[in-house]
Amino acid sequence: MIRGQRKIEHIRIAGKTPDGPRSTGLEDVRLLNCSLPELDMEEISLNSSLGDKKLQFPLVVNALTGGSKEARNINRDLAIMCRQYGLAMAVGSQTIALEDPGWKDSFTIVRDYNPNGVVIANISGTAEREAARAAVDMIAADALQLHFNVPQELAMPEGDRCFKGILEKVARIVEICPVPVIAKEVGFGFSRESVRQLYQAGVRIFDTGGQGGTNFIAIEDKRGGMFGGELDAWGIPTAVSLAEIAACDLPVSIIASGGIRSAADAAKAFAMGADMVGIAGPLLRILVRGGIEELDRWINDFLYRLKAVFLMSGARNLAAMQGKPLIILGQTAEWLRARGIDPHLWAQR
Ligand code: FNR
Repeated sequence: MIRGQRKIEHIRIAGKTPDGPRSTGLEDVRLLNCSLPELDMEEISLNSSLGDKKLQFPLVVNALTGGSKEARNINRDLAIMCRQYGLAMAVGSQTIALEDPGWKDSFTIVRDYNPNGVVIANISGTAEREAARAAVDMIAADALQLHFNVPQELAMPEGDRCFKGILEKVARIVEICPVPVIAKEVGFGFSRESVRQLYQAGVRIFDTGGQGGTNFIAIEDKRGGMFGGELDAWGIPTAVSLAEIAACDLPVSIIASGGIRSAADAAKAFAMGADMVGIAGPLLRILVRGGIEELDRWINDFLYRLKAVFLMSGARNLAAMQGKPLIILGQTAEWLRARGIDPHLWAQR
């Protein structure tokens, strides 16, 4: 299977594959209504930053694509939206353009359309350090995402089968990388054990990429994958992964992603300890179906609602939201208790 063909199939199949079957666990998480907020919507600030660059909103358009003509146009439109709203954007895996420089422009277009924005490079956590460095340089990136996608590789007939030495490779990349490194799952979630290992290797930013949204086992199975629909429920839900990382109590930044679909999802993630949220699949679907105007409308509505949830919770900014009480119920609370994490920590602060 040629890599470029795979990218095209991912876009097509992701458009038709629903989220799940398991949920993010965020439905178990509740914020409290604040009846006396003493706030004006105008003064709600969702300013954020990544490295030394400022962002108007703590939202990353997460890694999607590159390496085809269609991908080039998608990346252009996403970059235009990120420039307009002051959002961060990650490109899809750049391996294809390192193997065939003819595809570089499907990635560099993001920088062309958003010269001063926060742009994030993307490559596998199993990459060699030279490849990682080249991915950063290709788009003058502000940060580098290293993606971890073991289940997806194993589901693909043509995927990797050996992951020995992976942590050492990460450490070697962190050592030479001129920008912050983000460890990113792609829909299966990080456990606190994995986070601690990656922290030891030097990683300081974690993107949960949890279960409940885009499901790459289901997508690969529709491409003739090896799992035959039996392992679709594999993964750590986003709410749980977020709590697992927060409970590590390490000085790290957290991006909550995987099934973030609404302003309420995002606000809950911030209250659980996220510094940013990432969204991938829905933005692609809206763009492909409705064009840039539809995507513009969706982002605009999402950001309005996010500010509304902040106001309804009585939070003026991100730091305030990160201190708000949260109630964690149901299976998510059960999971946390089983792992020795007290779900009441959030409720009683
Ligand atoms: C992805 N994702 C992804 N991630 C990554 O690190 N490198 C990549 O090249 C890709 N490619 C890609 C293609 C398509 C079509 C989709 C839908 C997704 C994964 C993505 O960044 C994200 O981690 C997951 O999709 C989970 O987030 P959502 O989609 O549930 O918001």
